[in-house]
Amino acid sequence: MPRPVGRPRANDLSVGEVAARAGVAVSTLHFYESEGLIESWRTAANHRRFDRRELRRIAVIRMAQQLGIPLAEIREVLAALPRDKALSKADWQAVSQGWRARLDARIAQLEQLRDELDGCIGCGCLSLESCPLYNPSDRRGREGAGPRVWIDAMTKDQA
Ligand code: FES
Repeated sequence: MPRPVGRPRANDLSVGEVAARAGVAVSTLHFYESEGLIESWRTAANHRRFDRRELRRIAVIRMAQQLGIPLAEIREVLAALPRDKALSKADWQAVSQGWRARLDARIAQLEQLRDELDGCIGCGCLSLESCPLYNPSDRRGREGAGPRVWIDAMTKDQA
């Protein structure tokens, strides 16, 4: 949500400057702002301005997205960080340690899925008794749409 109208400050950046420096589209900045991830304010001439400190928040958002961290979790983490100063090395270390544990869990789940899939490659038995991934008669379909085995594995650590 934009801050109240005010006078430009020397360290503030226009939306175009932020987009160029952060390497994202202006529309992406608007999206981040609408999601409450970053903040801007308006000049008396109704020009959007960003505090230079928002650049570090944008860097964290982009890194989190690369890691597949859900937007809600990114928002939660950013909300817990101080707004009155740029993100510090200690801030980033705390955030990245939390995400590392999450990534480790995801990697373990993906490795398990990969290992189960290894047995299927070139097999084709589609056996209910022996195939870990096959789902005859769409039994899992009663639980919801989509690839249920995959979804279960991906969401296990979020429960
Ligand atoms: S298809 Fe044979 S074990 Fe999966």
